[in-house]
Amino acid sequence: MRVWLRAHGLQALVHIGALIPLGVMIADYAQDRLTVNPIQELTLRTGKVALVLLVLSLACTPLNTLFGFRGALRVRRALGLYGFLYVVLHLLVFTVLDYVGDLALIVQTVLEKYYIVAGLAAFVLLVPLAVTSTRGWQRRLGQRWRALHRLVYLAVPLAVLHFALLVKSLVGRPEPLLWGALVLGLLALRIPAVRRAVARWRDRVRHTTSEWRVANRKWRMANSK
Ligand code: HEM
Repeated sequence: MRVWLRAHGLQALVHIGALIPLGVMIADYAQDRLTVNPIQELTLRTGKVALVLLVLSLACTPLNTLFGFRGALRVRRALGLYGFLYVVLHLLVFTVLDYVGDLALIVQTVLEKYYIVAGLAAFVLLVPLAVTSTRGWQRRLGQRWRALHRLVYLAVPLAVLHFALLVKSLVGRPEPLLWGALVLGLLALRIPAVRRAVARWRDRVRHTTSEWRVANRKWRMANSK
């Protein structure tokens, strides 16, 4: 069990963690617990979960390169795909439940609201990434696969922009700004100069901590005599 947990624990956690919000949404919907405006509540919830999962998938590479957390790489794809699943649900709630498939009204709303344009652009960029996320496509596309998957660096900031544009006052609700700062930070960690600076800082912290541990051990040995 311990061996299994070490090998698959994080993957299991990601699958369970990503499906729980969906289960809660279905249960709340079935039991009429989705506030007085259930469609808006579903839109907000699916949008928020999508953003969290997409940002988590963006965090996986820096977690590996900077802190040697290799497990993060094994869950990166699942996090991205679950994020995409929630984006699709988000879009379906908007088009099917909210606008009951009225294409003319949907197009009119898209053209009127910049935040929808940003959301749609993020969605369109994520589609080829989700489609080519399998190992087969990775093999077939070779180097081009990596280049294609860099689209995520554009898609996630667009999703944050979508959130920022729909918030009435960023002073009253600064949440999108915090997401923006987090995403910018995660993207900056991919720049070699920034990565090297953070790696130097990490090594200095590790060195100081180990020196402190040795000094502490020596002190305890000296005092226990
Ligand atoms: C990557 C794609 C997307 C992500 C990550 C995303 C995320 C979000 C987030 C975080 C919110 C705000 C939740 C809150 O206020 O707590 C939101 C709201 C919303 N999104 Fe998206 N979204 C995406 C794409 C789209 C698309 C394609 C559409 C429609 C075509 C859309 C329509 C909406 C609407 C209508 C709202 C609610 C506005 C309101 O009632 O205040 N989103 N989305």
